Amino acid sequence: MNVFFKDIPCGVMSVLEPRTLHLANKALKFLRSTSNYDMRRISSCAFTQASHPGSDTRADKKGSAESLPGITVVVLGGRGFVGSQICKAALESGMKVVSISRSGTAPLTQEPWARDVEWARGNVLEPQTYLGHLQGASAVISCVGGFGNQAEMLKVNGTANVVAVETAKAVGVPRYVFVSATIPKIPGLGMILGGYINGKTMAEEAVRKHFPDSGVCLRPGVVYGDRIISNSLTLPLGYVFQPVERLLLRVPQTWVNLPLIGGLFVPPISAAALARAAVAAASDASVSPGIMDVPMLQKYK
Ligand SMILES: NC(=O)c1ccc[n+]([C@@H]2O[C@H](COP(=O)([O-])OP(=O)(O)OC[C@H]3O[C@@H](n4cnc5c(N)ncnc54)[C@H](OP(=O)(O)O)[C@@H]3O)[C@@H](O)[C@H]2O)c1
Repeated sequence: MNVFFKDIPCGVMSVLEPRTLHLANKALKFLRSTSNYDMRRISSCAFTQASHPGSDTRADKKGSAESLPGITVVVLGGRGFVGSQICKAALESGMKVVSISRSGTAPLTQEPWARDVEWARGNVLEPQTYLGHLQGASAVISCVGGFGNQAEMLKVNGTANVVAVETAKAVGVPRYVFVSATIPKIPGLGMILGGYINGKTMAEEAVRKHFPDSGVCLRPGVVYGDRIISNSLTLPLGYVFQPVERLLLRVPQTWVNLPLIGGLFVPPISAAALARAAVAAASDASVSPGIMDVPMLQKYK
């Protein structure tokens, strides 16, 4: 089955496999969304498939671990619980994936996709340790964050992410995605999680300031999936949170805004769905910049 690359200004026509066709069209879509490429050369391009009886015109939605030429995504904190799912989803979309973390090691998963990620060492607080990986990258997705005492939470959620945003901006990365969080409106939470909440706010403001047209902040509630603790211990959080998610998706949206208890009605989301949303935000120009809240994230289930 032949497919054709038509309408290239210089009149070149090439033959592509269907999966390559899908990846090529994703590449074009992405290139149109960035300012790093010469729009005059690609504005009229479209990869199309010759239609003839029996031809399968469906795109391979799941993609493969094959690299999409020219599209590299850097996942900061890519070896973590959420980050590793994002690395996997980005690979499945055909992107080349580089993960940055302080350890620089692969996560404990035995799944084969992990072999296709470049696991690099870097500390987001020290730009020189990862700046080289950002150069030429098409997007950055940051999953750096965590808990601790107030100062630690402010540093890892706030300062570290602000440095990362500024570094990505300085080297000309076109798109930026930040995994933030929905903070439930529960009285007293600010006292306990002030560093976390203020850190997320600082980071979101930096994304808004430096990537006003191409920065997306994802605000999940609780994220579930298989959290690997060690080689012999994995917590299957889905057993608890998936039924909760199903239940809470049935309650009226307005309950989330109830005073005092509204936060209890924020539905959890799977790490896999969150990862698909992050990859879309990093590669799809039709995803609006700004905040992606829980209802928007649920569309990637
Ligand atoms: N899990 C949830 O239920 C949930 C819910 C809402 C929002 N979120 C947000 O999602 C993000 C990811 O959460 P997670 O549960 O995946 O956390 P996680 O498993 O602890 O992953 C965090 C990652 O960040 C890396 N990291 C931390 N500090 C770093 C630094 N200075 N430089 C480079 N890498 C650094 C860590 O690797 P190294 O230690 O090797 O550096 C790790 O890979 C966080 O921002 C969190 O607030 C999570």
